[in-house]
Amino acid sequence: MRAFILDEYKKKGALRLGEMPEPTLRDEDVLVEIRAAGLNMLDSKVRDGEFKLILPYRTPFILGHDLAGTVVRIGPKVRSFKPGDEVYARPRDGRIGTFAEFIAIDEGDLALKPGNLTMEEAASLPLVGLTAWQVLVERAALQEGQKVLIHAGSGGVGTFAIQLAKHLGATVATTTSTANAELVKSLGADVVIDYKTQDFEKILSGYDVVLNSLDGDTLQKSLKVLKPGGKLISISGPPDPDFAREQGLNWFLSQVLPFLSFGIRRKAKARGISYSFLFMRANGEQLRQIASLIQAGIIRPVLDRVFPFEATNEAMSYIETGRSKGKTIVKIR
Ligand SMILES: NC(=O)c1ccc[n+]([C@@H]2O[C@H](COP(=O)([O-])OP(=O)(O)OC[C@H]3O[C@@H](n4cnc5c(N)ncnc54)[C@H](OP(=O)(O)O)[C@@H]3O)[C@@H](O)[C@H]2O)c1
Repeated sequence: MRAFILDEYKKKGALRLGEMPEPTLRDEDVLVEIRAAGLNMLDSKVRDGEFKLILPYRTPFILGHDLAGTVVRIGPKVRSFKPGDEVYARPRDGRIGTFAEFIAIDEGDLALKPGNLTMEEAASLPLVGLTAWQVLVERAALQEGQKVLIHAGSGGVGTFAIQLAKHLGATVATTTSTANAELVKSLGADVVIDYKTQDFEKILSGYDVVLNSLDGDTLQKSLKVLKPGGKLISISGPPDPDFAREQGLNWFLSQVLPFLSFGIRRKAKARGISYSFLFMRANGEQLRQIASLIQAGIIRPVLDRVFPFEATNEAMSYIETGRSKGKTIVKIR
């Protein structure tokens, strides 16, 4: 099968379009013919070698974390899917590789694609949808009437998180630039802060939850927005002790990684705020719940650009500009 392969970890290195053997199926696996793959900053970070210690993929391997496609074959223990089903997924860490024509994926990571979406739209959702779900529903337990600040509302995670937070009944503030103000308002944002001309930490106060996906400076300033008892949840680091434990890292890393968040945890604690880092996980059941929201018209995908499969490297360069409005996709078939 054709695939985009990472031959060596290299900053901004190009992926190679080449031939790889079709994946073999384990008993619980489903073989999916991939129709579209979503791109994520995680792809760039893995390629650059930034995640080598935490996700030690051995080269050569196929990159790509999001897919939509059609089931072609199932393993003997698969119960929930059959050939012909249209599905979407974020395959679990260790078994990625969606920049390819086929992938073998554990049925636990898979869900039926929302019927009202195209393959390209469905491929845009799993990683960012699961991230928003795991931050707002699982970790924050966001309640009706609470206030949440979602940074970078016009990005992949932000466009989904704004809609999910509104569905949960929260008041949503978000940061973006002037050019994207109308987009985030159309997704339901109640308060829009133009980060180029306004300081969010001087405008917002008494918030229950902040979803941070930006830099350390933004993380520090976000403390000022939260009320005592509030939750600062970051998906862009620094990692906390729970993450180090859950990842099953070696002794050295499990000792060193939590130190990176020592400062922010101390400052948060002094204000009665909890700080935590979240690294999203694959989850087919949550994708089923997300599909229901999409079919009900409660959440819609936001697509920026769709590239042909052959232009996967160009698509990677595009997301690396940091200017995406929603999601970028490669169409595989
Ligand atoms: N831990 C996890 O599980 C996890 C999961 C998903 C993502 N992440 C991380 O979260 C980050 C965001 O991911 P993403 O996919 O949402 O990124 P993205 O789609 O590439 O974000 C691009 C958007 O960010 C906005 N932006 C850039 N700088 C900003 C600023 N200073 N203030 C407000 N908005 C700003 C841009 O708006 P303008 O053009 O208007 O500036 C653009 O629309 C990445 O670092 C990613 O790796 C982590």
